[in-house]
Amino acid sequence: MKTFYIETFGCQMNAHDSEKVIGTLLQKGYTQVEAPERAELILYNTCSIRDKAEQKVFSRLQQFKKQAGKGKLFGVLGCVAQQEGERIFERAPHVSLVAGSASYTKLPEMLVQLEAGDRRVTGLSLDTNETFDTPFTRRDNPHRAYITIIEGCDKACAYCVVPFTRGPERSRTSESVMREAKSLAELGYTEIQLLGQNVNSYRDPSPAGWDFARLMAETGTVPGIRRVRFTTSHPRDFVKSIVDAIDENPVLCNHVHLPVQSGSSRVLSRMQRLYSRDEYMRRIEWIKGARRDIAITTDIIVGFPGETAADLEETARLIDEVEYDSMFIFKYSKRPNTPALEYEDQIPEEEKTARLMMLQERQRAIQLRRNGRYVGATEEVHVEGFNVATGQWIGRTAQNKTLNFHDSTVPGPRDGMTLVGQYVDVLVTRSGPNSLAGVHTGSH
Ligand code: 5AD
Ligand code: SF4
Repeated sequence: MKTFYIETFGCQMNAHDSEKVIGTLLQKGYTQVEAPERAELILYNTCSIRDKAEQKVFSRLQQFKKQAGKGKLFGVLGCVAQQEGERIFERAPHVSLVAGSASYTKLPEMLVQLEAGDRRVTGLSLDTNETFDTPFTRRDNPHRAYITIIEGCDKACAYCVVPFTRGPERSRTSESVMREAKSLAELGYTEIQLLGQNVNSYRDPSPAGWDFARLMAETGTVPGIRRVRFTTSHPRDFVKSIVDAIDENPVLCNHVHLPVQSGSSRVLSRMQRLYSRDEYMRRIEWIKGARRDIAITTDIIVGFPGETAADLEETARLIDEVEYDSMFIFKYSKRPNTPALEYEDQIPEEEKTARLMMLQERQRAIQLRRNGRYVGATEEVHVEGFNVATGQWIGRTAQNKTLNFHDSTVPGPRDGMTLVGQYVDVLVTRSGPNSLAGVHTGSH
């Protein structure tokens, strides 16, 4: 019996890639185990978006180094694999497999090589127009499923490794996406999340020629699907028809994640983001002009080379103007191969930290105020789990807000009773900066 263990770092694309890798391995006769100690093949699906993420895999490899040779094989998959390539064999000679996501279609062949005793197996070509669709995907969650619609990235943001780690943009045919959505609905999934580095750059390669708004609208008509989400969107390709589609069908979740990165047009231009502050704000106006209350979230990078106090102030003003529902703020991290690596005016680490904290504080007050608006309202949540420590069910609203709640008739998962996977109307009674709390009093 061949056993494997896999640990996944990074974004949802990586999480879903791991589901496909696991499906492929199971199909090839491997068994998944939950502890690396018990596995013959140990895989790390890695992320290299920031230096910290990249370092994690090397510390893991170090940890298990002594066990190499004792019947254990190590593989590095994903973005660090693609970025570092064969250098990984030098840094960690006990690794036998290095493969980036653009080569996963060749995974079965690579496994055969490993089994035949090859200890330097690589899959590093980025030269592909294939997507990694596998019918054997082993999904983690029985209610919510990821569907890849587009892989890779053709943009060239000055700070970002992704164009180097995930290869060129490749869209799946609309027919294959719809087939997957329908079969997921038949299996009982009620929520789907359309995935891509830039979902809204989606271009149907088949004669049907659907754009992203059309594809999303069509997935929202699949019987049994109650929620459709999508991530992530690039502002340059964000068109008004996406907002119109959300307005027309409540199945399409009223939440848009639209990474701005900076509020300063000067910085945006140096980042090669392909839009100005005004162009970004026009998209925000479309979203705010919708009939439905659409939540808006974003990503911001502080301390990009050359960012001045005035640039930072523009970002702070943009945050106040948009009033985001939540955001991720990152300190700029130098990445290999990227243009910004060569920029001279790098910002010291302590200064980046100070900028991050300033923006975080500002945003916290906004979230506290915005979440306060929901107290007294009834929100539908999709239940995801139960928190034993607080005795509350954990749910998510269509706007992707966490709403924890007590239920008088099902106080916890007991005797085979669970709310997980159900849609429940919850009265919001309290709010904080990062979540809502409430009670479910109605019947099931
Ligand atoms: N440094 C810091 N943050 C980065 N991101 C991407 N590249 C970098 C980098 N080099 C952030 C962006 C992106 C999110 C996924 O990660 O904000 O939207
Ligand atoms: Fe990390 Fe980006 Fe790769 Fe996702 S695509 S795993 S965020 S580097």
